[in-house]
Amino acid sequence: MTFPPGFLWGVATGAHQTEGGNVASDWWYRENRPNSPVAERCGDAVDSYHRWPEDLDLAAGAGFTDYRFGIEWSRVEPADGHVSHAAIAHYRRIVEGARERGLRPLATLHHFTLPLWFSAAGGWLRPDAVDRFLRYVDALAPVLDAGVERVETINEPNIVAIFPKLTAAGELAHGLPEPDAATTDAMIAVHRSTVDRLRVNHPGLLVGWGVSVQDYQAEPGAEAALEAYAEPRDQVFLRASAGDDFVGVQTYTGGRLRADGTVAENPAAERTQTGWEYTPGALGGAVRRVARVARDVPIIVTENGVATADDDRRVAYTTGALESLREAMADGADVRGYFHWSLLDNWEWGHWGPTFGLVAVDRTTFARTPKPSLKWLGGLAPSRMDA
Ligand code: BGC
Repeated sequence: MTFPPGFLWGVATGAHQTEGGNVASDWWYRENRPNSPVAERCGDAVDSYHRWPEDLDLAAGAGFTDYRFGIEWSRVEPADGHVSHAAIAHYRRIVEGARERGLRPLATLHHFTLPLWFSAAGGWLRPDAVDRFLRYVDALAPVLDAGVERVETINEPNIVAIFPKLTAAGELAHGLPEPDAATTDAMIAVHRSTVDRLRVNHPGLLVGWGVSVQDYQAEPGAEAALEAYAEPRDQVFLRASAGDDFVGVQTYTGGRLRADGTVAENPAAERTQTGWEYTPGALGGAVRRVARVARDVPIIVTENGVATADDDRRVAYTTGALESLREAMADGADVRGYFHWSLLDNWEWGHWGPTFGLVAVDRTTFARTPKPSLKWLGGLAPSRMDA
């Protein structure tokens, strides 16, 4: 199984799930308040705020050519209007460190966490949300100019728009609630304004966002129901990518939809640690639908992976996912790269149990131990073709 020269071959990480100590964020507040609904705290996460050089060494050493990492708004702007130059310098060093190791950086600007000051005063539904986000984006100029190649403005805007409705882990196994319409509109407005701002201030930067896409399949007679289900859950976001340099596809699982619009469970299906059906081929199916909906926008798989304690199952899952991706590409989908979620076992939004990493991390010493899948997947890297 080979991918064309120049195809991006990366690992993905996120800020809050790996950095640790994001004390100015809304998630930190939520995790630590009395009677928190969050089962397990993030705390020190996996201390990537300090150990990022090791993380970059692991990615580059395994053969990967691309690195997706997150920039944490609550570190860059911990108080309203106060920009931390130390945080800017920190993220700049990561970008420089990636480049020194031959990794092309893809930076995510928002990955679920917000500064508490922004969130507590209404979050994305504030009338000034776009302006406040753009002020943060402007402050990132020294980071972006240090050699970031691609930017994902918002990680999974469609999940951000359902957050208020998500109650328990494993929810995806039963289908997604419909995203909140006002948050959907806010996400699209923030994204479009951010793309415009970045294009003006950083010509040459490649910009898109990463949409969570499940591989929904219609049961016989459920085609119209499927369209109605998918439209608010991801298709409206995929279409809002029009004109972007890429659309990020983030796929883990799939589901079958009945004609009455409900998701059909398969009781016999193998489940991952997050409760989702083990469906490697979901990636190809998701990418085919994205290619139809987002039309001319090139696709990058910005997340795909599996929560399992069995690294052989990770290799098997990823093999199946990549085969299905290759087939979708052979049938015409314009896919430019693949980022695996995740480099490290990390904090899974309230839970430490699910392990998505190619590398295990000791939660006390933070020692990193590569799993066999790291070398295996890095070894599949296509040859680079830098302009
Ligand atoms: C998110 C990640 C998360 C992963 C696995 C995506 O929804 O971007 O933060 O860890 O899926 O659940």
